[in-house]
Amino acid sequence: MANWRATVLTLFPEMFPGPLGMSLAGKGLASGIWSLEAANIRAQAVDKHGTVDDTPAGGGPGLIMKADVLARAIDAVATDDRPRLLMSPRGTPLTQARVAALAKGSGVLVVCGRYEGIDERVIAARQLEEVSIGDYVLSGGEIAAMALIDACVRLLPGVMGKEASGAEESFANGLLEYPQYTRPAAFEGRTIPEVLTGGDHAKVKAWRLAEAERLTRERRPDLWQAYLA
Ligand code: ADE
Repeated sequence: MANWRATVLTLFPEMFPGPLGMSLAGKGLASGIWSLEAANIRAQAVDKHGTVDDTPAGGGPGLIMKADVLARAIDAVATDDRPRLLMSPRGTPLTQARVAALAKGSGVLVVCGRYEGIDERVIAARQLEEVSIGDYVLSGGEIAAMALIDACVRLLPGVMGKEASGAEESFANGLLEYPQYTRPAAFEGRTIPEVLTGGDHAKVKAWRLAEAERLTRERRPDLWQAYLA
């Protein structure tokens, strides 16, 4: 099977692979389970200064990425039908379900815009789908792109061991992860809950579910309501 391909369009290609070159994602990259191409948007600038942005129409602070330059950068790499994502705080919030769907496909093309914005017309003209990784503003889309790509590649067959499947089930059931413990039996006066060392697997399972439900109820009322429904 062809590998899973991530293409990133950015003004800072030297940021990649960065953390994606380490640990399990990095091993998967080195072994060819997935591949990464970081293309410099500036390479598509037409003037001798390498201009990629300009002042906003209508006035205001900041600079806007030019539609023509970005469109050329997209056209240079968008030679297949992978989803074209634009990392943006105003996008659809990324979920584990979307990550799983992207991981099942052939890869992603990810555009990292500067956060002041990009010309709206290129979003429509190149059918970019805006995706957010949370309700806070990063200084650029690169770290968001890394988060999205990392979440996808850890699901690719062969990237993670057995531990991944368990963690996935836990989120897929709509609950937060239950607490975990390992030796020593006592740490600074705190002991491991007795049920976990008693050897009764049914009781362990029930305790974990109850704890997952408690944490979800306390911390994530939104997930809790969805779980109940
Ligand atoms: N770029 C800047 N902030 C972002 C966010 N929260 N999600 C995705 N891309 C972004």
